[in-house]
Amino acid sequence: MTFYFYIACRFQHSLLGERTNLFKMVTGMVRTLIAGNWKMNGLKSSLEEAKKTTQMLNDFPDKADCLICPPSTLIVPMKEVASERLHVGAQSCHPEASGAFTGDLSAEILADAGASYVIVGHSERRSEHGERSAYVQEQAHACLRAGVTPIICVGESFAQRERGETKDTVVRILRKSVPTLADSETLVVAYEPRWAIGTGLVPSSDEIAEVHGVIRELLIELYQDRGRGIRILYGGSMKPGNAAEILAIDNVNGGLIGGASLKADDFMAIYAAAVA
Ligand code: PGA
Repeated sequence: MTFYFYIACRFQHSLLGERTNLFKMVTGMVRTLIAGNWKMNGLKSSLEEAKKTTQMLNDFPDKADCLICPPSTLIVPMKEVASERLHVGAQSCHPEASGAFTGDLSAEILADAGASYVIVGHSERRSEHGERSAYVQEQAHACLRAGVTPIICVGESFAQRERGETKDTVVRILRKSVPTLADSETLVVAYEPRWAIGTGLVPSSDEIAEVHGVIRELLIELYQDRGRGIRILYGGSMKPGNAAEILAIDNVNGGLIGGASLKADDFMAIYAAAVA
């Protein structure tokens, strides 16, 4: 099955991505990041999927980074089964380094457990836990303090999209969420339209290109040349069947994948599209 996905992805990628990839090569490549967000899914038995992912990665050229962000309880055991090519991350953190914050985990604690990335500002955290952009920025600073890379998520609601406010919304939220200093090693941004998460709906390639383009402009405005190398992931119903097309879009430097990251076969079919 995976093999057929791989072939299909290669074919689609070569048709759709040729012009864009040439552009990426000429303008300087940014190493793609394929990141899995397991959300509140994952028991000890799920480590089998991580083991399988580690093994399957050996079948692909080492041309893109691969990351799984499991529930925090699985960070330590996942690090034990993961090879160097499979990075392990977390899904949120508290801004403080330590203290009386019952139930929370600091970026330092997550780094100590083996996390090298932390997702912050995911729309589910923003809506379910009321985490606002100023708080997300504090979390991002905490990540930098602890030596882990924040993946800052940003996206518009369906109503904002309908009102034609997508770009303004994304820029406004991102401006307030990003850290003061950053470069390609210390920051990842994920554009995740809220209406596309877990719904099977995906914006058109042109729409994704437009939003990633304004995010790139903002990163250059904020961090000058360093903003050119910061990875901008697309997230929201990315699947083996659409990954090649999405990953070929200008300024799309990887994916943040929820549902399709839970099974190694699907996740690696997306990785295959990234390294094809
Ligand atoms: P999805 O989730 O791939 O299941 O849409 C993406 C995300 O929430 O990061």
